[in-house]
Amino acid sequence: TIKPVILSGGVGSRLWPHSREAYPKQFLPLLGERTLFQETADRIGGIAEARFDIRSPLVVCNEQHRFLVAEQLRQMGYEEADILLEPCGRNTAPALTIAGLHVRERHGEECILAVMPADHHIADVEGFRAGLARALGVAGRGLIGTFGIVPDRAETGYGYIRKGRALDDDGIFELEAFVEKPDAETASRYLDSGDYLWNSGLFVLRAGVWLERIGLHRPDILEHCSAAYEKSCRDGNFLRVDRSDFLRCPADSIDYAVMEKLNGSGQAVVIPIDVGWCDLGSWASLSEVKPRDDNGNVVEGDVYARDTRNSLLYADSRFLAAIGVDDLLVVDTADAVLVAHKSKAQDIKQIAEHLKSAN
Ligand code: GDD
Ligand code: MG
Repeated sequence: TIKPVILSGGVGSRLWPHSREAYPKQFLPLLGERTLFQETADRIGGIAEARFDIRSPLVVCNEQHRFLVAEQLRQMGYEEADILLEPCGRNTAPALTIAGLHVRERHGEECILAVMPADHHIADVEGFRAGLARALGVAGRGLIGTFGIVPDRAETGYGYIRKGRALDDDGIFELEAFVEKPDAETASRYLDSGDYLWNSGLFVLRAGVWLERIGLHRPDILEHCSAAYEKSCRDGNFLRVDRSDFLRCPADSIDYAVMEKLNGSGQAVVIPIDVGWCDLGSWASLSEVKPRDDNGNVVEGDVYARDTRNSLLYADSRFLAAIGVDDLLVVDTADAVLVAHKSKAQDIKQIAEHLKSAN
């Protein structure tokens, strides 16, 4: 059995002012008609694979977003999805741990989790499904499957995977080393070496394998999540984990808590995929995948641009005019306007932090 697990608890603060705490980016139709969350649910939900028994998705999100999640799933015809609610964000390691506990209880520890972040766009969905089918085979043998993307820049916001020896399975490699979010110098060394791939953030592994790993490397996380899960209460399709136990759980990501500890253990593999993957984390990455005009501008709404290049200009609620500017991000909404240099796209999260502390 395969259980798709969608991690959807992030706040998407680098896409402010479109993405807000109450309405994060994964629930917005950033590209086309469906939201990133809906694209994610359908990427695996729509697999017609006779070889695999694929169950309806399990979503882990913040309780604040439960109705957004339920409604967006309903629109896609996934009414039966289970929705695990966290009272607060503790990053991805606790989120996957409560998912693992739930799946083990329901489907047994051999059940394979196909872990998917809700903030990605994948252009070639069929190519992705083919890669996934290969990962399922490896995960069935007790290994942890990751998907690697050939890097095209020294991005510091991603994890890097060093490819080891090739397995007998075609196109699958041992994971030799995993380095989460290296500094700029290290990232550019990795890029030049040609030996590293970006971690796509998708993981395929048995529920029991995750629980064993997190128990080994972060017993504190397993302990608090187990307590929070045991005391969880059901509310229709929602399952609320216990607030006070979950609040006591330390925050950490899957990548730091477990993946970095696997180096050279032979327990994880990487499958390189070339499927038009991108993490729509920031306005800069969004403008990479949006159609541009002849001057390299990405424009939406009522916009006038002259002598302006390589900029993103979004007018939501009024007319926007730009003259003689390059590499700018200008995003207008009803109650806030962003003006930022493209090179500072990663710093936009500080605005959300500022607003949070000011309120
Ligand atoms: N349920 C839940 N709870 N989900 C969460 C939480 C949480 O507390 N925090 C984050 N998520 C979700 C986000 O919504 C997103 O879909 C996913 O988990 C990944 O979290 P990010 O915060 O976006 O991680 P990242 O982009 O910095 O890094 C990860 O992804 C990169 C690729 O996009 C890492 O896995 C990197 O190694 C990887 O390169
Ligand atoms: Mg991300």
